[in-house]
Amino acid sequence: MGRLEGKVAIVTGAARGIGASIATKLHQEGADVVVTDILEEEVHASAKAISKECLSFKHDVSRKEDWETICKQVKEKKNKIDILVNNAGRLLFQTLLETEEEDFRKVHEVNVLGTFLGMQIIGKEMVSSKNGSIINICSSSGIEGSNGLLAYTGSKFAIRGMSKVAALELGPLGVRVNSVYPAGMNTIMGNPLSLPKEEVDLGFKQFPAQRIGNPEEVANAVVFLASDESSYCMGTELSVDGGMTSGRYYFNAPGAPEV
Ligand SMILES: NC(=O)c1ccc[n+]([C@@H]2O[C@H](COP(=O)([O-])OP(=O)(O)OC[C@H]3O[C@@H](n4cnc5c(N)ncnc54)[C@H](O)[C@@H]3O)[C@@H](O)[C@H]2O)c1
Repeated sequence: MGRLEGKVAIVTGAARGIGASIATKLHQEGADVVVTDILEEEVHASAKAISKECLSFKHDVSRKEDWETICKQVKEKKNKIDILVNNAGRLLFQTLLETEEEDFRKVHEVNVLGTFLGMQIIGKEMVSSKNGSIINICSSSGIEGSNGLLAYTGSKFAIRGMSKVAALELGPLGVRVNSVYPAGMNTIMGNPLSLPKEEVDLGFKQFPAQRIGNPEEVANAVVFLASDESSYCMGTELSVDGGMTSGRYYFNAPGAPEV
């Protein structure tokens, strides 16, 4: 508790899932949290559940004007911005041969353009006060490919690359940029049919954790990167994926789990 006392944080895509969990955890650690999402009613409800003081905005991360409005309003109301979590994301389950141009664009507008605009507009504000921590929520799909996830994988590799360049450019100006790589999280995106956890866990037996992840486990990683405890972390890639990107088991070799 209190690891983020006195800090002002913005979390995008915080109406539900991982974003809501991150916002809740940042608040529990003492941050003054602002939540945003394209889902208006849901983001206001999410803010209410966090605290009476939690500000909320309808926000399409792919719109520059939305970012500028939020930046201005948060500055006016809170006087500064210390933490930005670029969490809003859009998934598309389609193969290379099926993907429509329009759908490809939409995924990139939210995931790539949204992250770029956030880092640029809020980053500029942070640079002016020579202080800030930006955390981009990427994915195991930013590390390795999976069939059926062409557009999403491309967008997450882009976030990974942009996080590195931003870390290089903003680090000397007092702003740290890091990225987090979740996989297999129990949210609408990760478990769209809301199947019972025990049932979903069966599909994870070939990975080291042998279970689906909880959004709180991503939030714990974000708290670390948001706090001064990670003051020497810049351009860091932090996987929260139950070991999914560690490699593959040879199931007939020693040390393989029973599936
Ligand atoms: N769930 C997983 O297994 C998983 C794995 C790897 C990475 N991630 C990443 O974690 C992040 C959160 O995922 P989640 O599982 O909570 O998904 P989710 O679908 O439950 O939540 C995503 C949130 O982003 C919001 N959003 C979508 N488009 C937006 C836009 N244009 N502007 C603002 N907000 C918008 C949605 O309204 C929603 O509230 C995403 O970036 C996702 O790619 C999730």
